[in-house]
Amino acid sequence: MLISQLTSPQSIPDMAMEPSASYEAVETISQRNNASPDVNALFAPIRPGLRQVEAKLRAVDSTLFAPLAEAFLTLIGSGGKRLRPALALLSAEFNGPMQGGPRHHVVIALAASVEMLHTATLVHDDVIDGALLRRGAPTLNARWSGVSTVLAGNYLFGTAAHFSAETGDMRVIRLFSDTLRTIVDGELRQLKDRYNFLQPRENYYQRIYAKTASLFCAATQGAAILSRLPEERIDDLRQFGYNFGMAFQIIDDILDFIGDNTTLGKPAGSDLHQGTLTLPFFHYLQQHSAPESVLAMLEESQREADNGNPMVWEETVASLVHELRNSAAIEAAREEARRFLNRAVDNLSALPDNVYRSSLLGLCEFVEKRTY
Ligand code: IPE
Ligand code: IPE
Ligand code: MG
Ligand code: MG
Repeated sequence: MLISQLTSPQSIPDMAMEPSASYEAVETISQRNNASPDVNALFAPIRPGLRQVEAKLRAVDSTLFAPLAEAFLTLIGSGGKRLRPALALLSAEFNGPMQGGPRHHVVIALAASVEMLHTATLVHDDVIDGALLRRGAPTLNARWSGVSTVLAGNYLFGTAAHFSAETGDMRVIRLFSDTLRTIVDGELRQLKDRYNFLQPRENYYQRIYAKTASLFCAATQGAAILSRLPEERIDDLRQFGYNFGMAFQIIDDILDFIGDNTTLGKPAGSDLHQGTLTLPFFHYLQQHSAPESVLAMLEESQREADNGNPMVWEETVASLVHELRNSAAIEAAREEARRFLNRAVDNLSALPDNVYRSSLLGLCEFVEKRTY
């Protein structure tokens, strides 16, 4: 019964559900039904909270410089899956109801804060990557100069910090600022490691924790703190955010190889092209009969590009992406994502079995199967 609710999440009830199935069981069903769960249905138990988050995100200061206000509203209104605020709202519901209670506004503030921080990092990430498409629409840097876009991103960071302060909780505020520092550290590590074909795979895990999983940790741990759970359960939810976030980025990196621009709403095939080595690439090298020849070819075509012959690099990347897409590297990377998701499911085992936990489990399945 639980499994069918996870795969047909429209049926999530308001009442507590039966004891949770393990992720393995979810996976078995998934193999029969490959469709990704409907995120909106998984969000149903926290829909009122999400509406409040949305209103908070869109509230713009009437005295704001008009072009900045317009950019702000365009960025916030451009959609996005809203996964991070949803995780915060769900994670707040394990120590008695927060929804409808006198302290729910602090959870709303946290949820708005993590989504605003996420949006700000995307604005800067697209400047760094020179990306022109995001959430199916032109990026701000496609319309504005890089300098102005960075400043607009800073405005979003400031707004995120403001929301974080509204929680009134020093521990959560510190978590927010440490997360921001960690994300910057991760993006810089990624920049530094571009085209470094000899980097250890460990660098990959380190930077995806920093640039992505750390924010999922802040969402789930922050909510656990605000709901005043005991320390062990706060730690469980932090670990859940970590494992969920690591899997989320691994799947994003797989989709960069196998997805298409229209479904993703952002440019596919850009990581390797920009010299960012991701998990499918490391698996491809590991499985290759002559990895040294692949590395030598990459280094040689990079040298050619540096010498003013970019077409060689374009061709090398195109043929490598083609080979990699058809290799076992994709499945090997997916298997790693599943391992992180299995751990995420385990992290929930000591938490009360309620409809919110069922949604978190369903979101693990969504991450595994997502195509966008
Ligand atoms: C994109 O995150 C950036 C990564 C961490 C991979 P999302 O895929 O959650 O982006 P939106 O908010 O839905 O656009
Ligand atoms: C996530 O990584 C970026 C941030 C955490 C800001 P990606 O660079 O893979 O994200 P996309 O693919 O551009 O969304
Ligand atoms: Mg990017
Ligand atoms: Mg990506």
